Amino acid sequence: MKNGIINFGIICLLLCSIFVKAQKPIYLDVNQPIEKRIENALSLMTLEEKVQMCHAQSKFSSKGVPRLGIPEVWTDDGPHGIREEVFWDKWSGAGWTNDSCTAFPALTCLAASFNPQMALIYGKAIGEEARYRNKTVLLGPGVNIYRTPLNGRNFEYMGEDPYLSSRMVVPYIQGVQQNGVAVCVKHFALNNQEENRMSINVKVSDRALREIYLPAFKAAVEEGKAWSIMGSYNQFRGEHCCHNDLLLNKILKTEWKFDGVVISDWGGVHNTDQSANNGLDLEMGTSTNGLTTNGTSSYSEYYLADPFLKGLKSGKYNEQLLNDKVSRILRLIFRTTMSADRPFGKFVSPEHSEAALKIAEEGIVLLKNEKQFFPIPVGKYQKIAVIGENATRSLVIGGGSSSLKVAYEVSPLQGLIKKYGKDHIIYSQGYISGKSEYGKEFSSDANVDSLINSAVEIARNADVVLFIGGLNKNHFQDAEGSDRKTLDLPFGQNKLISALLNVNKNVAVILCSGNAVSMPWINKIPAIVQNWYLGSEAGNAITNVLSGDINPSGKLPFSFPKKLDDNAALSFGQLSYPGDGTNEEYKEGILVGYRWFDTKKIAPLFAFGHGLSYTSFEYSKPVTNKTKYGKEESVKLIFSIKNIGKVKGAEVAQIYISDNKSTVIRPLKELKAFKKMNIEANQSRQVEISLPVKEWGFFNDKTQNWEVESGKYTILIGSSSADIRQRVSVQVN
Ligand code: BGC
Repeated sequence: MKNGIINFGIICLLLCSIFVKAQKPIYLDVNQPIEKRIENALSLMTLEEKVQMCHAQSKFSSKGVPRLGIPEVWTDDGPHGIREEVFWDKWSGAGWTNDSCTAFPALTCLAASFNPQMALIYGKAIGEEARYRNKTVLLGPGVNIYRTPLNGRNFEYMGEDPYLSSRMVVPYIQGVQQNGVAVCVKHFALNNQEENRMSINVKVSDRALREIYLPAFKAAVEEGKAWSIMGSYNQFRGEHCCHNDLLLNKILKTEWKFDGVVISDWGGVHNTDQSANNGLDLEMGTSTNGLTTNGTSSYSEYYLADPFLKGLKSGKYNEQLLNDKVSRILRLIFRTTMSADRPFGKFVSPEHSEAALKIAEEGIVLLKNEKQFFPIPVGKYQKIAVIGENATRSLVIGGGSSSLKVAYEVSPLQGLIKKYGKDHIIYSQGYISGKSEYGKEFSSDANVDSLINSAVEIARNADVVLFIGGLNKNHFQDAEGSDRKTLDLPFGQNKLISALLNVNKNVAVILCSGNAVSMPWINKIPAIVQNWYLGSEAGNAITNVLSGDINPSGKLPFSFPKKLDDNAALSFGQLSYPGDGTNEEYKEGILVGYRWFDTKKIAPLFAFGHGLSYTSFEYSKPVTNKTKYGKEESVKLIFSIKNIGKVKGAEVAQIYISDNKSTVIRPLKELKAFKKMNIEANQSRQVEISLPVKEWGFFNDKTQNWEVESGKYTILIGSSSADIRQRVSVQVN
């Protein structure tokens, strides 16, 4: 009897547990495959609940389904640090006291490191900060190509070369997404200027699109496995990129098999039909104009809100369209917030400072260094004059959506004083730029001449002068929403530099900028350093390089033209840049950056890939495994680099390919590989690189295919695009 009761009890328990199991919705079971969870969640949602997931509910978030325990999606800028919390429906900071982040170097600096390992460290660290702040999506990285030196947002991107930006973006994404935070690769596509960014209609050949403007996005999707991508503001062939059939449906989702979410740029959506049909999944920021205007229509009036719902109910739009969008958003949620493996993140940790410092040190570029001006060891000089506003100005504030509220920022002046001692550093501002506010230009009523005079007095009696200037994050400088007006240094800096040179010949220029500038004084200045925007550790990084504790190893990710007209896009006149107000034609085609300078035989001021070291390197003769290759084979290239100087250093070997004879126009050379090597003084290291021949082709507009032509190719090995050290010829059949 007793046994019978026990048996009965056990059977009841078993049945109950089976029942409970059967009741547990599959989408909550983290052990189930994500696709099954999506299918299950979708089957439980009403039409209204699904539509609600496709548009914003606040400035930076979109709804989940509370009834089913599906969380909201929280996005946040940006590529260089985690932006402060803002009010629900405003751009302005909410005044939290626990959201001051680590600022990492701008992406131009990361690209200049030519070191994918740095991109991984970067992604991991910023991803941890995003996770700690409970963000689902980090709005970055940006990989728009550096087409002109006037683009106000170049500092947020990775330079002019599609191969370099592809190699750097992939590890960044992997680093971020390890944290259960999605990246949002932006701005897809052809958002290569800020002027008229909301509307300009870009016309570009298929060939330039495929060879120059898309590769980094493609790598981000196919290799980086990015979980979301941001449609850009501009139009391409008459359709806004946030709902552009060719870019989103055909290329991104069909060709590249992107399974993530297409998020609109804030205010980049313009109608319901196109956003329903042309590949957009999540609409953000409608009725806001970039960073200036707050919302004017309620969230239910968004194009993918009530108007979409109405169209779905009337049968105008197929529910399959909606299900595809929601599946993608659910997939993103299951990959991030609802993933059981999601780590917890870290915020402003010592490891993040270390990462920021290391990346900054590897990205700083020594452009010129005559008579060993640098390094300046501690104790070499009694009096070092530091002149220039950027020695003290915060360069993490301003610039638009990438502006940051930081836990700390070491300025160059602070870094220099810490290293050399306050008795050896004298500072004078020299010039003034005014405050930094989005979309506004301020002039200053300070007496410019008196600023120059004070700086000159200090320079006169100093052993050496470090001028720390450049651009900043003001309107019409390196800032979102506007392009620069000229290539020249702003705020009277050229006049100031000349005045300093009149009293002291030992003037070095340290440029903080994300863009090239003209240098009318270049022949008189013995040393020039490209210092980017380096974030929280800025002052420590530059001081370590100037003092010689760190040997510089950064290389330029874009060319510096001598004058504006030397730039390809600008040389074709207004329609080519900035457009006629409606349309813009990329008349230079594939000849962007060094591809243009090389092919047209125009000498740049500083070439792509240029960057000096405190030591020198010698390249040995390269050898290849064969001389003749089939199109599916790879060339195995072996050579060594010797550090022939007295200090250890790092060299970036750059491998370019040149098609000796082609039926179509080809650039003189194209970067196909690079490798950064740390080498001790007097030591050699061997470099082994595999070059797949199938990557040497061009995109044929007519056949819509990549084609590698048979014939002779030259493999060029260089220390920059203009400093080719070795060559080897191979035959492709
Ligand atoms: C920018 C994006 C940014 C978004 C949200 C837009 O104006 O173009 O890059 O992520 O605002 O701040």
